Order: sequence, then structure tokens, then C-alpha cells
Amino acid sequence: MLFRAPLRRRSPLFGICVGRRARLAYIGGEHGVVVPPEILTKRLRLDDLTADDAHALFTYRSHPEVTRFQGWCPAAVEDAGAFIARNATKPFNQHDSWYQLAIRAADTGALIGDFGVHFIGDDGQQAEIGFTIDPASQRRGLGSEAVIAVLDHLFTALQKHRVYASVDPRNEASMALLKKVGMRQEAHFRESLFWKGEWVDDVVFALLRSEWRA
Ligand SMILES: CC(C)(COP(=O)(O)OP(=O)(O)OC[C@H]1O[C@@H](n2cnc3c(N)ncnc32)[C@H](O)[C@@H]1OP(=O)(O)O)[C@@H](O)C(=O)NCCC(=O)NCCS
Repeated sequence: MLFRAPLRRRSPLFGICVGRRARLAYIGGEHGVVVPPEILTKRLRLDDLTADDAHALFTYRSHPEVTRFQGWCPAAVEDAGAFIARNATKPFNQHDSWYQLAIRAADTGALIGDFGVHFIGDDGQQAEIGFTIDPASQRRGLGSEAVIAVLDHLFTALQKHRVYASVDPRNEASMALLKKVGMRQEAHFRESLFWKGEWVDDVVFALLRSEWRA
């Protein structure tokens, strides 16, 4: 129950924010990383959102299939741009702060999604994740590929102790993805969140570093 309070604060955007293009930089050890990573996979590159991403971000983030389970719904391109600009100064891996990475096609650099990491608590040991893939790019395994890459980064590079995700159980895609990547369902809270005008269930998936690639 110690982690109940943060879980109830489902981010309206799963932590959209932006930082500077950069590679990993360590300041004072693994918990002092303040510069966002560039994470490469076979098909994806995760890095900073930039002002040039505002149109694509607005387009898929305002798609009904995305807004159904995500709280933030930009009404105009300017909203997406303002959000990117507002968050551009946030450091990565800052306690009690969300950081949002761009998910790009590795070959073209096109924005196809975004990935939020919520760095929990003062001890820097836990993180919450949230992710979105443009409906035009869904069901190709890209969401799973991004989640696996970020989990690996959080457990390996940043040495997080525990990573969790909070999901509405009606979100079949997200439920399937989290099971597929090996996260454990730890809890199912009945009508524990008042979300978009109704009480909704909240399912928590988690993984420990000791379980990662075990
Ligand atoms: C959740 C989301 C990121 C999945 O992205 P994706 O790239 O389509 O995921 P993947 O292709 O890696 O699929 C992962 C698993 O989910 C399943 N899946 C994907 N979409 C599904 C859907 N609409 N219904 C049921 N299962 C689905 C896939 O079949 C796959 O399982 P399998 O390999 O066992 O068949 C995407 O649907 C999305 O962005 N949704 C809107 C935002 C959102 O709800 N984010 C999560 C908030 S917790």
C-alpha cells in the first residue's frame, strides 16, 4: 500500500515532456543521470521530442483510439508544441517527475509514438512507464519493442529496483503488451480511479530488476 498514492495519479499524458538531444551522461553515479538517452532497437530510435514533432504528436494523440485511455488530448497543434516547449528544460531521471521520449522509426526518424517514464520518490529506485504508438503503426510489435528497450535501460543503465505500469483493464492492447513483455500483474483495484466521468478499475503490472532477463 505504500505505493498506492502515486499509482492513483495516472498522468494525463503519461508524462509527456521533452529534453535535449543527447547521449547518456552520468553525474554522481547511476541515479544522477540527468540527460535523456538515445535508445536504439532493431526498428526504433527513442530520443528527445523536438518542436518539429508537434504536428505528428498532435495528430495521433488526438486520435479517438488513443484518447480513450489517455487523459491528455491536445485540441490543436499549438497545444502539442506548447507542451514540448514547456517540458524541454526538464532533466531526465528527476525524482517525482515524468519524462517523455519520442519513439521514432529508426530508418526515417518519423515520430510514431511517445514513451513516458515517471521517476518515483526521493530514493530514485522506482519508475512508472506509459507508452503510446500511433494507430497507423500499431500491431506490428513496435510497442513491445519500445517497452522492452526502455525496461532494459531502466534496469541496466539506471539500475532501477522496480518498474510498474498502471492500466485500465478494458485497454486490451496495453494489457496484452504488458503480459507479452513479461511484466507481472500485481493488483487489480476495483473502481479505484475516477476517470473521464466514471469510476474505473486500475490494474498494476510490475517487474523487479532481479526478475529482468532472469
Ligand atoms: C498499447 C499500445 C502501445 C500497443 O502498441 P502496439 O505497437 O500495437 O503493440 P504490439 O504490436 O507490440 O502488440 C503487443 C501485444 O498486444 C496485442 N494487441 C495490440 N493491439 C491490440 C488490440 N487492439 N487488442 C487486443 N490485443 C492487441 C498484440 O496482439 C500483441 O500480442 P501478441 O504478440 O501476443 O499477439 C497501443 O495500442 C496504443 O498506443 N494504445 C493507445 C494508448 C494506450 O492505451 N497506451 C497504454 C496506456 S497504459
